[in-house]
Amino acid sequence: MAKNANLGAAKNAKNDEFYTQYADIQKEVNAYIEYNPDVFRGKTILLPCDDPEWSNFTKFFAQNFEFFGLKKLISTSYAIESKKYKTDWQPTLFETENPLYNVEKSRIKGKIFTLTHDINNSGRIDIDDLQWSYLEGDGDFRSAEVTALRDEADIIITNPPFSLFREFLAWITEGGKQFLIIGNINAISYKEVFPLIRDNMIWLGPSITSGDRLFMIPDDLYNESKVGARDIIIEGQHYISVVGVRWYTNIDHGRRHEPLQLMSMADNLKYNKKLKGLQRYIQYENYDAIEVPFVELIPSDYNGTIGVPLSFLDKYCPEQFVIIGQTQGDSGKELGLAPYPRELKKLNKSLRDGQLYYIDEDGIPQKPYARILIRKKQ
Ligand SMILES: C[S@@+](CC[C@H](N)C(=O)[O-])C[C@H]1O[C@@H](n2cnc3c(N)ncnc32)[C@H](O)[C@@H]1O
Repeated sequence: MAKNANLGAAKNAKNDEFYTQYADIQKEVNAYIEYNPDVFRGKTILLPCDDPEWSNFTKFFAQNFEFFGLKKLISTSYAIESKKYKTDWQPTLFETENPLYNVEKSRIKGKIFTLTHDINNSGRIDIDDLQWSYLEGDGDFRSAEVTALRDEADIIITNPPFSLFREFLAWITEGGKQFLIIGNINAISYKEVFPLIRDNMIWLGPSITSGDRLFMIPDDLYNESKVGARDIIIEGQHYISVVGVRWYTNIDHGRRHEPLQLMSMADNLKYNKKLKGLQRYIQYENYDAIEVPFVELIPSDYNGTIGVPLSFLDKYCPEQFVIIGQTQGDSGKELGLAPYPRELKKLNKSLRDGQLYYIDEDGIPQKPYARILIRKKQ
C-alpha cells in the first residue's frame, strides 16, 4: 500500500505537477451550485495554471458551460520549458495537427484556451468549441498578460502550484476576485492567510474535511526513483496520495451556515469518553481560555475564549462563533500570551513564548498543537 505524502513533499519533489481528479472538482463545485444555482451565471471564469490536455478543470467547466450559464471560460497553461521538471514531453496531436502549431513556441510559450459560443454548430457549447492560441509569454500567472485575464474574469478557479500558494492567493486577492483554489490545511496559519479567515473574507470549501486525496501524475513525469512508495497506479494511471488538502474560497456555500450541534460543558464532562476523569475543562496557564482538543467537545454554553484545532475551520459557522486569533508564529505574542516561566523548560523542552501551554494532571507543562482561539457569537 502506498504511503501518504503531504504537500511539503510535493514541494521537495519540485514538480508541482499533481492534477486534480474530475470527481473532486465536481463534488466541490456542485456544493456552490446547490447553495446558489446562479452562482456562475453570466460570469467569466479563469482557470490559470491549468493544462486542458491534463487538467480536469477545463473539461469540467467546458462540459457544464451551458448548465452553469457561463459567459466565458478562459484557461491558461504554463510552458513546458518553464516547468521545474525536465521531461521527454511531446506535444499532443491536438496541438501538432492544428494549423497554429509551431515547434518552437510549443515548448516556450504558454497557451490560452477560450470558450464562448458554439463554433462547430453542434447545437451546444462544449469542450469541442474551445479555441486556443499561444500566449506571448510562458503563461506564468504573475505575467502581465495572465494578470490582464485575471482582471477580465469574475472568478478564478484552479489547483495552483503548491510551492507558490502564498503568491497565488495574494495575486487573486490583489485583483479583488472571487476564487476557489486548492491548498494545504497548514496554509490557514500563514500570516498572509489567517487574517483573511479571521475576518470572514475567505473560508474553507465544504467537500474535503479530512483524509487524503489522490492527484494524477502525468505519465511523462512519473519517475520511480522520485515518486517511489507514494505512487499509486489505478488502471494504468499514476496517482499520488496527498494528505491535508483543502479548498479555499470566498464563494458562499451552505455548509458554513449550518451551526455545529454541541452539548453543554456539564454534559460533555459527564458523557464524553474523551474527557473521562476530568472534573473541568483544562485552562491554559498563559491565556484566559480553555483547551478543547476536539471540535465535538466545544461546550455550547461557554461564553469565554476557547482554543480549538485548525480542523474547527471545516465546521466553522460565522453566525455561531467569532475567531479571535491563532497561536502560530508571532501571532500568539500579538494576542498577549504571557511568556512561560523559564524553570518549566526543564519539564518540557518544547515550550515557546507566544504559544499556549497548560499544566497536565501530572504537573507537566504541555504545549498543544496549533490552536485557533474562538468565542461564541453573542
Ligand atoms: C498542482 S498543478 C495543478 C494543475 C491543474 N490546475 C489541476 O489541478 O489539474 C499546478 C500547475 O501549475 C503550473 N505552474 C507552475 N508554476 C507556475 C507559474 N508560475 N505560473 C503558472 N503556472 C504554473 C504547473 O506546471 C502545473 O501544471
